[in-house]
Amino acid sequence: MTDLSEKMKGFIFNLDGVIVDTAKYHYIAWRRLADEMGVDFPPEQHENLRSLSRMESLEKILEWGGLYMTEAEKLHWADVKNNWYQGLVANMTPEEVLPGVVPFLNAVRNSGGRTALSSASRNARAVLKSTRLESYFDVILDGSAARKAKPHPECFLLAAIALHLSPSECIVFDDAVLGVQAARIGGFHIVGIGKPEHLPDAELVIPGFADCRLSDILIAVEKMSPAVTVG
Ligand code: G6P
Repeated sequence: MTDLSEKMKGFIFNLDGVIVDTAKYHYIAWRRLADEMGVDFPPEQHENLRSLSRMESLEKILEWGGLYMTEAEKLHWADVKNNWYQGLVANMTPEEVLPGVVPFLNAVRNSGGRTALSSASRNARAVLKSTRLESYFDVILDGSAARKAKPHPECFLLAAIALHLSPSECIVFDDAVLGVQAARIGGFHIVGIGKPEHLPDAELVIPGFADCRLSDILIAVEKMSPAVTVG
């Protein structure tokens, strides 16, 4: 391990929007459902579903359309959407991994860092399999791991435990406001992926991993103080 990475030992990645762009497939599947229900669902509206669970997403769409469903109907339609989504991600290829991700993961592992994938998606493993990324992670936690939704930090805390590290030794990479909040509440270092104006609570925001050097991230993170751990 290099000097720079002595303090930062764990690298925890969200999946959707960080490693791969699955948001477009979630949108296609939700849009199909919204169309069947006669709910207007433009792409910009989908931004509001980022990081929400499958059921929370369905409930938002119903709310926007002013529709009511019984719990049984919700379970049925969430399942229908999931089948459509699974059909789409089954055809994903390694070419769909976002630019710079694989070199960055290699750099982390070559420096002795440990990697975890922590996703709210129950389809995370299927996506990793289609894109052939499974072997890049020491720990993989999908949506069945955490019981509490973000901004509760449970998903990241479970990843830190599995890596045998404390939150202050880990950097979380997340593209969503809820993910950034969860990481901060959990006492992790947090690098936002996207635009700084969308992620004001992140300690550092990068547009993505293309041309991103591990050493630059570590230098920036060394200067940060992680948020206070709660709970
Ligand atoms: C991630 C995505 C959400 C998605 C959720 C559950 O958090 O950002 O858009 O709804 O995972 O995904 P799943 O594949 O389990 O329906």
